[in-house]
Amino acid sequence: MHIIIRDLTKEYKMGKEKVGALKGVSLDIEKGAMIALIGRSGSGKSTLLQLIGGLDTPTAGTILVNEKELGKMKDRERSTYRNNIIGFVFQFFYLQQYLTISENVQIPLIFQGAEKGTREQRAKEALEAVGLGEMLNRLPNQLSGGQMQRVAIARALVHKPEIVLADEPTGNLDEKTGDEIMDLIKKLNKELQTTFIIVTHDSHVAAQADRTIKLADGKIVTTNA
Ligand SMILES: Nc1ncnc2c1ncn2[C@@H]1O[C@H](COP(=O)(O)OP(=O)(O)OP(=O)(O)O)[C@@H](O)[C@H]1O
Ligand SMILES: [Mg+2]
Repeated sequence: MHIIIRDLTKEYKMGKEKVGALKGVSLDIEKGAMIALIGRSGSGKSTLLQLIGGLDTPTAGTILVNEKELGKMKDRERSTYRNNIIGFVFQFFYLQQYLTISENVQIPLIFQGAEKGTREQRAKEALEAVGLGEMLNRLPNQLSGGQMQRVAIARALVHKPEIVLADEPTGNLDEKTGDEIMDLIKKLNKELQTTFIIVTHDSHVAAQADRTIKLADGKIVTTNA
């Protein structure tokens, strides 16, 4: 099993108040699975992705990836995990405004210590794959919302991670571009056995996944194969 989640709980503290974002989530995800994660705003979808990605730590419960427990990793092992195993498409992109889109896409490769020539070549290939091969030297503020989203996707895929966590990757795209991105995701899923967990509000995207998991108020309410 690629990812094993048991009794995962996340509480955010705000002063004296506690917000229960996840309330006991257990889940097994096999290698090469394509999972759609759905549920209303505030149901805990982004929180779950952040915990799987090692960007935040749970209040209780465990996550095992490749049989290793994230909570037991030392700092260095954890950053290796984040840099090599995980690709993230964030809900709000987080592109660096002063870097060109090619440089933005190279960031994961810098963390891996790849050389400049290799980085430029792989960023170019990743940007070509999302249809932006002609815009390598533009800055993010010279792009449309959908184009920025595609840069974020190229950045998540450029280092060929084992697991891609994508928070509404097609949210700002028209249907045709969204389909092209989904085709790219399916290709990587097939060819490289990349595991995808995709948060989506789009039933058309969810229909292309192997499995849909629905969260409501921090709990899994339905999963269907
Ligand atoms: N840093 C934080 N501090 C306090 N509460 C938070 C924090 N982040 C999220 N929450 C709360 O945790 C709950 C789950 O939030 P989360 O972002 O996981 O929802 P979501 O399912 O991704 O929603 P959306 O579809 O709107 O993105 C919400 O009630 C939210 O207000
Ligand atoms: Mg969210």
